Amino acid sequence: MRRIVLVVAAFALGATVAAAQNVTVIKERQDHLKKMGDAVKPVGAMYKGEADFDLAKVQAALKVIGEKAPIVPTLFPDDSKTGGDTEALPKIWEDKADFEARWKKLGEDAKVAEAAITDEDTFPDAWKTVAGNCGGCHKKFRKPKE
Ligand code: HEC
Repeated sequence: MRRIVLVVAAFALGATVAAAQNVTVIKERQDHLKKMGDAVKPVGAMYKGEADFDLAKVQAALKVIGEKAPIVPTLFPDDSKTGGDTEALPKIWEDKADFEARWKKLGEDAKVAEAAITDEDTFPDAWKTVAGNCGGCHKKFRKPKE
């Protein structure tokens, strides 16, 4: 009898740990994405002509993108398809190769832009290439806003 209770308790504990891990990784990837979004936001305003060009902020955003691009795609394990307030679509796990290739391209484009953007004239074209990756992936792999 005692043994059965122990086994049941261990099983329940295991299930709790698994669920906790899953929400942790969702939170972790959202934190990285949010930091990337915060860095990109002022640059998006510059691109739209709503803020003055600021090379330091552009370069800082590209650096953050370059740091996050290799990390984020590693934070989508199979046990994180649902949970928390994730906006990830199931398609990510059906088409992991495309999902990961897009992160790789984002990182590479950010690196190219870091070298290419030296002033206001070289900014728009190079930035457009980088930022296009964000919307392109969100359209396919992230739940649309309600
Ligand atoms: C290859 C796919 C992909 C690329 C590229 C991508 N994202 Fe995302 N992004 C996602 C997915 C998927 C989510 C939803 C994650 C979740 O909720 O679990 C997301 C969520 C976000 C969020 C919300 C984070 C939160 O607080 O929950 C922000 C902000 C964001 N992305 C910004 C960006 C920016 C800025 C770029 C470009 C520099 C970008 N993303 C590029 C896939 C991508």
